[in-house]
Order: sequence, then C-alpha cells, then structure tokens
Amino acid sequence: MPDLSQLRRKWSGLAKAAGALTLFALLGAILVGLGYQNAIERIKSNEREALLHQLLEIVPREQCDNNMLTDTRIIQAPDHLGSEQTTVYRARTENGPFAAIFSPVIASGYNGAIHLLVGINTNGSIAGVRVLKHRETPGLGDKIEIERDPWVLDFDGASLLKPKPDDWRVERDGGVFDQFTGATITPRAIVLAVKKALEYFQKNQERVFSVGESDDRLTEDW
Ligand SMILES: Cc1cc2nc3c(=O)[nH]c(=O)nc-3n(C[C@H](O)[C@H](O)[C@H](O)COP(=O)(O)O)c2cc1C
Repeated sequence: MPDLSQLRRKWSGLAKAAGALTLFALLGAILVGLGYQNAIERIKSNEREALLHQLLEIVPREQCDNNMLTDTRIIQAPDHLGSEQTTVYRARTENGPFAAIFSPVIASGYNGAIHLLVGINTNGSIAGVRVLKHRETPGLGDKIEIERDPWVLDFDGASLLKPKPDDWRVERDGGVFDQFTGATITPRAIVLAVKKALEYFQKNQERVFSVGESDDRLTEDW
C-alpha cells in the first residue's frame, strides 16, 4: 500500500499535468482566436481594396482629391435604385463635388437581381457602369460583364439629355442601346435601372453630396 507522501507526490504530479494541459488549451484557444481575428481583418481589407479598385475604374484617382471609401452616405430609395439601401460614394476635387457612385443599383434581370455600380458626374452624365454580381445565363445574358464584352461602356457619357429620355431603351424597343442576340431582357433591365438612377440623381443631387444629416441617411422623397 502506497504511503501518504507517495500519494501526495502522485496527486501533485497529476495536478501539474492538468495545469499544463489547461494552459496549453488556453494558449491554443487564444492563438486560434487571434488567427480568426487576423483572417477577418485580412478579408475586410481585401474587400476594401477590391471596392476601391472598382470605384477608381469609374472615377480615376487623378480626378478626385478625397477618399471615396470614407466619403459616403446611405440612401433608401428602393423605388428608384432598386435596393432597400444603397451606398453613395462621393468623389470631390478642391473645386467641389465631382461624381457620385451608387452601389448597388439593382436591375431586375432574367434570373433575378443584377447588382450594379453606377457612377454619375455632377454634369449629369454617366461616369461608368459596372456589374457587381448577377445570375444571368452564361452565353446569353452575361455579356453585361466587362470582362466578356464592352457593352456596358456604351453608357459612358450618356445623360438624360443625350440620348433623350424616350431613347433610353434597347434598339429593339425603339431606343439607342444595343441588345444581345436572343437575350433582350437583361440589357433592357440594365438600361432602365441606369436611367432611373440618373433620374434620382437629377432630383437629389444637392442632397446626395451634402455632408451629414443627423442620421446620415437620405430617404426617398419623390
Ligand atoms: C434557359 C434560358 C435562359 C435564358 N437566359 C436569358 C438571359 O439571361 N437573359 C435574357 O435576356 N434572356 C434570356 N433568355 C431568353 C429570354 O427568354 C427571351 O427569349 C429573350 O430575352 C428575348 O430576347 P429576344 O427578343 O432578343 O429574343 C433565356 C432563355 C432560356 C430558354
């Protein structure tokens, strides 16, 4: 039979082992937590970079003096911009506002929502349109992606004056914008969504560029 001091030594050995295990488990948990936090930060930073890249495709860096990523407002105008909530990124120069980029403007495509980035210059002309995401049919509706087709560049410089509002349609409907062979629904939806974004901008331009109301939100009011 083990004597008391042997038992004590055994227990103290076990307690030390349990302590060491707990310490390792704690260290492991902390390291996993830190790694997770790092990964989240990295993902967020990559997303910011990707977004900035897209914004700068529409308004190049040399055309704006501010940081568009932080000069934003939230707009709630679903009837005109298609989304419950749209962020507007403002580009400014030392002479004042230069362009506003709306994200997302949502068009109602053949297979559902088409998310667009729509940039509008202060003179009311389109600075650029890009498709952020969509589910249109490959080979039919996906020519809206700039990587596949330059179609989306047809909007550059267009405004509500040129072409005239009635001509903001695909050619098949009597307008000036090309459609795709056998796939008119997708471009028709985008033409309509871009036109509505222009109309929203025309009526709300001053407020789109104004800095900070109390809750920093603009709601639909027309
Ligand atoms: C499986 C399938 C997928 C289609 N996908 C699209 C699409 O992504 N975009 C589109 O505009 N039309 C698509 N269409 C065609 C539309 O049903 C419609 O016929 C077409 O948009 C009308 O264009 P059109 O008047 O030039 O023929 C698809 C049709 C089928 C059968």
